[in-house]
Amino acid sequence: MPQTHQNTLAHARERDAADPLRSFRDEFLFPQHNGNPVIYFTGNSLGLQPKGAAAALKQELDDWARYGVEAHFQAKHPWYPYHEFFSESLARIVGAEPTEVVAMNGLTTNLHLLLVSFYRPAGKRVRILCEERPFPSDTYAFHSQVEFHGLDPKDTVVSMKPRAGEHTLRTEDIVKRIGELGDELALVCFGGVNFLTGQAFDMQAITDAGHRAGAVVGFDLAHAAGNLKLDLHGWNTDFACWCSYKYLNSGPGSVAGAFVHERHHREKLPRFAGWWGHDKNERFLMEPEFKPMASAEAWQLSNAPVFSMAVHRAALDLFDRAGMDALRAKSEELTGYLAFVLKTISAAHGDPFTIITPDDPAQRGCQLSLLVRENGRALFDTLTRNGVVVDWREPDPSTSLRAGVIRMAPVPLYNSFEDVFRFGGILDNALRS
Ligand SMILES: Cc1ncc(COP(=O)(O)O)c(C=O)c1O
Repeated sequence: MPQTHQNTLAHARERDAADPLRSFRDEFLFPQHNGNPVIYFTGNSLGLQPKGAAAALKQELDDWARYGVEAHFQAKHPWYPYHEFFSESLARIVGAEPTEVVAMNGLTTNLHLLLVSFYRPAGKRVRILCEERPFPSDTYAFHSQVEFHGLDPKDTVVSMKPRAGEHTLRTEDIVKRIGELGDELALVCFGGVNFLTGQAFDMQAITDAGHRAGAVVGFDLAHAAGNLKLDLHGWNTDFACWCSYKYLNSGPGSVAGAFVHERHHREKLPRFAGWWGHDKNERFLMEPEFKPMASAEAWQLSNAPVFSMAVHRAALDLFDRAGMDALRAKSEELTGYLAFVLKTISAAHGDPFTIITPDDPAQRGCQLSLLVRENGRALFDTLTRNGVVVDWREPDPSTSLRAGVIRMAPVPLYNSFEDVFRFGGILDNALRS
């Protein structure tokens, strides 16, 4: 049952006392400001360090010292199959079968590898549909893939703008656009959650519409993995990729992830291959002919980056213990509370900002994005000086975001209702000054 919100410390503390996940906050290291933990609302950019990360990393360093190369088989967590330790956890996080997911590479690398297999322009079916303002790396990937096929991105990559006067897309418009592009559409590839507006897309509806049009459908889940409840297998999504340094708290540039639906595992697909994708039972026969594994592991190129994976292991352990259902339930409450506090403060100050993230909890995750009408940068700087960690995006006059945006994401694993209340007090003071 959604709670009635109140902008008081007593209410925030009551909500924290009733929070079944409250003890997870103690499992993280918070940067300090004047001797107190900062209000850290930037888990959408870089998640906080789990306290277990250092020990997990040290274990691998110790095993390297103790065993040298033999650690591939002798280490406490043997290195040779290290990526396999994540299959079950990642499958739970993205709603997949364990064989459909793999931890490997970086996010943009994975997007490219998956596009090599799943963007196959032919005849008039060449176009890619994405949202307006996908993360720039995705745009670069789409454009360079299109050029790789000898096509012109200008005619090929279609990005969907919101309706005039709106900042986010309507599902019915996305579905309609997919239908209109019909047999010209090779690929639909959206962010699960748009990085700037915080809008969560209806991935089931987009997948269904894409498939009805005969296109392949994939998602960049950088802002969705560990944030939303996902069901990639059930939705029949063709492919997806994500990073682990945001909501998955696995450290800067840590190992990313990929999903390939099992119906593609035995297909003969174009692929950029490497030895770690080769049938693991025969890998050390070192035969020249590539035999892909019948799983998402077939897209791996290289042996496991164990040090970044060690931190990933410590971080995913927290997800296994908390569970996505409980995390999502708290997240809806926490972000709902932040929205309430923001609206209360905005109304008291003559509406200096608008929340552009959808109000409907089903259309957003943790993050709220504020379009600040004037002096947004100064407001952001004042928040920073007062121990609040949020982030600032410059205005983009080519879009509806002609003023700057402050993004903030209270994260259910480590943020509290009291954080939200204290943030509200600092924002209120900042607006007064
Ligand atoms: C939505 C999205 N896609 C792609 C990227 C690029 O990620 P990477 O540098 O891990 O390739 C980011 C980075 O923040 C992102 O937010």
